[in-house]
Amino acid sequence: MENEVQKKRILSGIQPSGNLTLGSYLGAIKNWAALADEYDCYYMMADMHTITVRQVPADLRRNTLTQLAAYIASGLDPEKNVLFVQSHVPAHAQLGWVLDCYTMFGELSRMTQFKDKSAKNADNINAGLFTYPALMAGDILLYQADLVPVGGDQKQHVEICRDIANRFNGIYGETFKIPEPYIPKVGARIMSLTSPENKMSKSDKDPNGCVYMLEKPEDIMRKFKKAVTDSDACVRFDPENKPGVSNLMQIYSAATGAAFEQIEAEFAGRGYGDFKKAVGESVVEMLRPIREETERLLSDKAYLETIYRSGAERASYVANRTLGKVYKKVGFLAR
Ligand code: TRP
Repeated sequence: MENEVQKKRILSGIQPSGNLTLGSYLGAIKNWAALADEYDCYYMMADMHTITVRQVPADLRRNTLTQLAAYIASGLDPEKNVLFVQSHVPAHAQLGWVLDCYTMFGELSRMTQFKDKSAKNADNINAGLFTYPALMAGDILLYQADLVPVGGDQKQHVEICRDIANRFNGIYGETFKIPEPYIPKVGARIMSLTSPENKMSKSDKDPNGCVYMLEKPEDIMRKFKKAVTDSDACVRFDPENKPGVSNLMQIYSAATGAAFEQIEAEFAGRGYGDFKKAVGESVVEMLRPIREETERLLSDKAYLETIYRSGAERASYVANRTLGKVYKKVGFLAR
């Protein structure tokens, strides 16, 4: 406990809005497991963010539990990492509201994710979708996080979080630690297999573009066989001119640990067919133990319950301390 206090703190989260993608595994979860010794780590299922887009309630519940199981199966030791569900810690909603009042309409209007999501959900441009970044700022600031591992698409949200924190600190004095985004170099941006100029995403129109962490091997293989390449017939890393092949190289490199030059040498003079098959197989083998362990964990609901309950308790302890300070500073009467 003593030296845990000295460790830098990390907070991140993923929305349980569907099945976890290969992109979230390689770009996020896989890297998180390695941080546990050096940092004090908090990872949440961001279910409160998820309802900014309409969900089927039973699916949201199942996806939240599956995400927890997949976190653990991916090597996030629940003793060393605090794994929790956002809605289990009321301080997120409470600080979120306060921060809404320190976040400007103009800055929220500039968020690219808001613009994208409101274009995609034109019939449900709700206030939560708009104030989403203030809730996310609360998620981070509650824990006084030093680092926030996120994909490139969330960088703008960490930046607005810093702006909000600085604004609040400027008015009331030092209250929040100013967090830094932490964007992994490798695997940070896994692209769609069918339109490699776009990020791999579960909302991809083409279902073959996105591979899921818990998907069956034969489905994974089929998707890799269909992956878009080019007419050049040469395995070479060149994201500008060869986005499809370069994306497959990124994935193969992340799955096997091979460097790009090694991959180029391995497939020199061989066709894309061989290459795509090898990438598919490497992904299947990488994911197989995780899928099996996730399934095993999901059959033990009682165990998962103890994990998310203790996670909520550990998270609440830290979160409530920050919330208490904030309530006092803004002038709420102590109960
Ligand atoms: N907005 C993030 C996403 O969609 C998820 C998220 C919610 C998050 N709160 C967070 C990520 C806090 C990092 C820190 O990917």
